[in-house]
Amino acid sequence: MYDGVYSEEVMDHFTNPRNVGEIENASGVGTVGNAKCGDIMRIFLDIDENHVIRDVKFKTFGCGAAVASSSMATEMVKGRTIDEALQITNKAVTKALGGLPQVKLHCSLLAEQAIHAALWDYAEKNGVAIEGLKKPKSDIGDHEDSE
Ligand code: FES
Repeated sequence: MYDGVYSEEVMDHFTNPRNVGEIENASGVGTVGNAKCGDIMRIFLDIDENHVIRDVKFKTFGCGAAVASSSMATEMVKGRTIDEALQITNKAVTKALGGLPQVKLHCSLLAEQAIHAALWDYAEKNGVAIEGLKKPKSDIGDHEDSE
């Protein structure tokens, strides 16, 4: 069981986050918040004609675990197809970060859901259906049972 101390990966991605910023004219933009903690995450995706995520950026107004989760999640979806990106769950992000304290698991869910929201936006803008993608909530505060 994880004892509540942040892993080296979390500290690394928090102090040196990858893919921070915005993408102008992004293919899809997703914003998700958690009303309980007040944190907000926005993900920008640049998707090419082969449905490959060419670039991804994020802006997170939130805790260190949320910043680290966004950074790791963006690294994990970059260069992947939409279908591959959909398979990247908050559990996978948490694992790649070397674990998160129990009370911080929802922070990684924010990253997963922000990516889904950006994919949803892309699908709507382009009139395409993404199999397995559910309409994301803009506030994940109601379902924190992500484990
Ligand atoms: Fe809310 Fe981390 S405490 S996202």
